[in-house]
Amino acid sequence: MSAKKNVDRLDWWREARFGMFIHWGLYSAPAGVWKGQETPGLGEWIMGKFEIPVTEYERLAKDFNPVKFDAHAWVKLAKDAGMKYLIITTKHHDGFAMFDSACSDYDIVDATPWGKDPIKALATECTKAGIKLGFYYSQSQDWHDPDGMGNGWDFKDEKKKDFEKYLKHKCIPQLTELLTGYGPINIIWFDTPCKITEQQSRRLKRHVHTLQPDCLVSGRIGNGLGDYGSLGDNQRPPRDVEGDWETPCTINNTWAFKTKDKNWKSVKVLLELLVSCAGKGVNYLLNVGPTAEGVIPKASVNRLKAVGDWLKVNGEAIYGTTGSPFPYEHDWGRITCKKGKLYLLILKWPRGKFVLSGLRNRVKGARILGDKRTTVTVTQSHSKKSDAHVIELTLPRKKPGTYVSVVELSIVGTADANQMPLQQPG
Ligand code: GLC
Repeated sequence: MSAKKNVDRLDWWREARFGMFIHWGLYSAPAGVWKGQETPGLGEWIMGKFEIPVTEYERLAKDFNPVKFDAHAWVKLAKDAGMKYLIITTKHHDGFAMFDSACSDYDIVDATPWGKDPIKALATECTKAGIKLGFYYSQSQDWHDPDGMGNGWDFKDEKKKDFEKYLKHKCIPQLTELLTGYGPINIIWFDTPCKITEQQSRRLKRHVHTLQPDCLVSGRIGNGLGDYGSLGDNQRPPRDVEGDWETPCTINNTWAFKTKDKNWKSVKVLLELLVSCAGKGVNYLLNVGPTAEGVIPKASVNRLKAVGDWLKVNGEAIYGTTGSPFPYEHDWGRITCKKGKLYLLILKWPRGKFVLSGLRNRVKGARILGDKRTTVTVTQSHSKKSDAHVIELTLPRKKPGTYVSVVELSIVGTADANQMPLQQPG
């Protein structure tokens, strides 16, 4: 797997490392339950899972009234969580536009009693807060449109479907609306390319870049054409991956809100995922699923704030870093680095001394982030005969800080590790 590097457009994105995903749409109203039956799958897939006819599903719009929606609060949460960008669903597979679209009346402004454009409000708040904004847009699947992909229950005859027509009358015009009406857009997060051809993916990419040259397109545009790669949902890369990648992750087991899904990942697990992604040079896109009223569940809010508190102390070990220079994971934790620094993100605090083998750089000093009192002494040795580099650190017995403790090593030059898999003592 590899994704092409595109230096200019991706600079901010590489620096960011952590973003917020928001899945919000008509599907947030049934919240995983249709006619008393719970959907076994993802909340936003309820229409597809139960093969709900378009005419029936459409009625959800009549009651969609998110009176508690507060763009400022959502963006502030992203900011407090230490997230640097935000991707919101503007049209998911159900085909409903969460913005004011002139292409069809099947949108939040024209079809709901609420009648407002939340994307406008989010764009304004993101600009104010300095959060980069991106739009999720389902380019192939559209279960509301006879020519879109994926709805085999209302539109049974595959031969009658004209995807080209769909691209021309809905997908491309809606992308134009999104890229011309909301200020600078930083990512179009395409998803589930399905049977889209290479030529069609190319056309979409060109369209995005023509309207906004700096806007990134996600790997799921299809046919390997993304500006960066998108790993599978909740996928953790086992080692450093070449190129630029992002992994989208759920905070429970669904993207869109489901009343019954209370399987929230703990703060500890979320932080482990964040540092594991950073340790591979991969961006972590963590999702929240607001309710139909427009509220981000308290359980998500609390967790994100705790992650943000950790980042306030330890953020320098995440933002602007690249993955570990080692070709394998250490069982005590993860490593990130940037010029002159190597960060040891320690998940299992050592009982005795801490030993790191294989780092070739000279270490000038060490400190624990957020802990000014403790001094860490470094002993470095190198055996010319076996070319073994060993660093020993004296760390306090008691783990400092919360969750993941970070030791920063000041090094000479750019981190350089022995590429031989070494047995790590201790
Ligand atoms: C999958 C699902 C989709 C979800 C996405 C998030 O592709 O089909 O519902 O939005 O993952 O990464």
